Amino acid sequence: MTVRSLHLLGSPVLRQKAAPVARVDDVVRQLVDDLFETMRAAKGVGLAANQIGVARRVAVVDIGEEDPPPFVLINPVILERSDEIETAEEGCLSIPDIFGDVDRHARVVVEALDRDGQPVRAEAKGYKARAIQHEIDHLDGILFLDHLSAVKRNLLLSKWKKSRKRQKGFLKEVTPEPAGEL
Ligand code: NI
Repeated sequence: MTVRSLHLLGSPVLRQKAAPVARVDDVVRQLVDDLFETMRAAKGVGLAANQIGVARRVAVVDIGEEDPPPFVLINPVILERSDEIETAEEGCLSIPDIFGDVDRHARVVVEALDRDGQPVRAEAKGYKARAIQHEIDHLDGILFLDHLSAVKRNLLLSKWKKSRKRQKGFLKEVTPEPAGEL
């Protein structure tokens, strides 16, 4: 497993519609493992392949102890969405330190292939449902900022640009915590 560099806002791959996976083979399994490794090193709760520069429909979600086990989404499709909408603050590993309130369906039913290529159907509510919708958005080139009002989005974009003033490029190295350290 490898911790990969994160692609940040401005990297074109984040705006690409990712291509479906034709077959879950060792390359795809490696991608899944790298996504988990990178997500954990970056202390995220979800990560889509676009975010490590791979425009394929693969994402992972792990919201932690609240809802084990970790969840693999290969070619995910949302089959049902609740009418009920919840609003909560979201961030994104590709837009560090920027947060905004996003409306999401409170409950979704999602179908996807797992790491073994087996179809899985799952119902998710609350935070997990939110994470799944956020990650599937990534696979369609959509970022949480796109769900905000133009005023709010522009405010956050100018904050982002200010924070990136001295940075070059759109890649961020992720440094995992040294093993065994508290
Ligand atoms: Ni994100």
